[in-house]
Amino acid sequence: MEQGIMTMAPERTQPQMEILLTADEIRKRVRELAAEIDRDFSDDTPVLIGTLKGSFIFVADLCRAMTVSHHIDFLAIAAYGTGTAPTGALKLLKDLTVNITGRSVIIVEDIIDTGTTLTHLRRLLLARQPRRLAVVALLDKRSRPDPELPIDYVGFRVDGGFVVGYGLDLAERYRHLPYIARINPTQAEETEPSV
Ligand code: IMP
Ligand code: MG
Repeated sequence: MEQGIMTMAPERTQPQMEILLTADEIRKRVRELAAEIDRDFSDDTPVLIGTLKGSFIFVADLCRAMTVSHHIDFLAIAAYGTGTAPTGALKLLKDLTVNITGRSVIIVEDIIDTGTTLTHLRRLLLARQPRRLAVVALLDKRSRPDPELPIDYVGFRVDGGFVVGYGLDLAERYRHLPYIARINPTQAEETEPSV
């Protein structure tokens, strides 16, 4: 047999990465979050609102682990300015298609860093007068909870650094990874963060 067939291809796509959360750990935690949401919304039909693009995998796994009936919608937002010079303002790239007035809403976020995105998002959605607004974030980078910005369900707290995988990207790469890994910060600094 030719040697090339037996030899594993070298890992080209994951340079300088450290796995923080394995696919199994994520799966287990997502099931726990779904169980909590099921309990809290047992007599309700909430609308899950995923924030594109980073939360698309989280939404897909979370909704399949939930048993309460629910609806799903997405919106896309992006920060004005670049990663090194954010203005704090956000633009709405894609709006919801469902009317959330009077509905129970659960924002499904991939990661909270400074909290700016979520602050704006909450303001945007609260203006539409939902009956209830909750937030689930898979990852929270903040060192401690902020009473001004409550997050009802947090998957994992992660220490600084830039993480990729499970929907999260670095310049649109690595979203497909089934695990979450910290990537070399110097690589991250060279690149604009994206939604
Ligand atoms: P915040 O507005 O500072 O809380 O940033 C939240 C958004 O920044 C997230 O929804 C992501 O799109 C992006 N982001 C922040 N940190 C990371 C990271 O470590 N990896 C990938 N995206 C990130
Ligand atoms: Mg996001």
